[in-house]
Amino acid sequence: MAGVYSDEDLAALCDVLDPRVAGDDPCLPHVMAADSVLDVGRGTGALLHRARREGHTGRLCGVDPDVTALGRARTRRDVEWCQGRAEDMGFRGEFALASMAGNVFQQFVTDAAQHAALTAVRTALREDGRLVFGTRDPRARAWERWTPDHATEVVDHHGRALRVEHRVESVEGGVVTLTETIADRDGAPVRVDRGVLRFTGVEEIDRLLTATGFRVHARFGDGGRGPLTDASREIVTVARPV
Ligand SMILES: C[S@@+](CC[C@H](N)C(=O)[O-])C[C@H]1O[C@@H](n2cnc3c(N)ncnc32)[C@H](O)[C@@H]1O
Repeated sequence: MAGVYSDEDLAALCDVLDPRVAGDDPCLPHVMAADSVLDVGRGTGALLHRARREGHTGRLCGVDPDVTALGRARTRRDVEWCQGRAEDMGFRGEFALASMAGNVFQQFVTDAAQHAALTAVRTALREDGRLVFGTRDPRARAWERWTPDHATEVVDHHGRALRVEHRVESVEGGVVTLTETIADRDGAPVRVDRGVLRFTGVEEIDRLLTATGFRVHARFGDGGRGPLTDASREIVTVARPV
């Protein structure tokens, strides 16, 4: 079914669906305060575009393996865009801040991928640098709400009325396999994509940070800097190189 609704359409739809494009991105204050920023898993580039629009004058660099998303990001030429995976980045001591917004951390689904990505980020940072990233807290079991009952109705960039729904195929050891179906409002699917996301708890995140040369500098339970509690849906971490 994929292809009826193109990769370019899907990338544009991500921006329509993303509430942070219209509202505040929790990473934005960190980005605006840093003179050089590496945004890992940049997607369509909204965060760095906005930072430039709001007057950021330093180095802004976005990395993502998705060529189509980067195509949208590249509409702005005063930001560096690199195609590639976090694990393979070759930056060394160049950035004051690395960000992984929008649950990018959940894309690293194996122990090896998580370790390799954080090691590459650590290597890219200056000794006085910071990493900020968020990930869904497994205790909130977000996947239980990824059902057709919780579908989102949206009007896309072409003015087409669509319904976006998710179905979980499996949950194994914190790794969730799901499908996303984009359908016309009459229910006819125009595209189906499959994805895999890993949910990692706070103790495991801390072990991983320690193993890759970081220590936790600050911890929040949402993008608004609220405390992390048993009821939090997110784990937002600011980490510093050791
Ligand atoms: C949910 S999107 C988030 C995009 C963006 N950071 C945001 O806040 O909207 C996840 C992004 O992670 C990217 N991604 C997947 N695997 C990756 C990897 N190994 N290294 C870097 N980025 C990756 C995807 O291509 C996608 O653009």
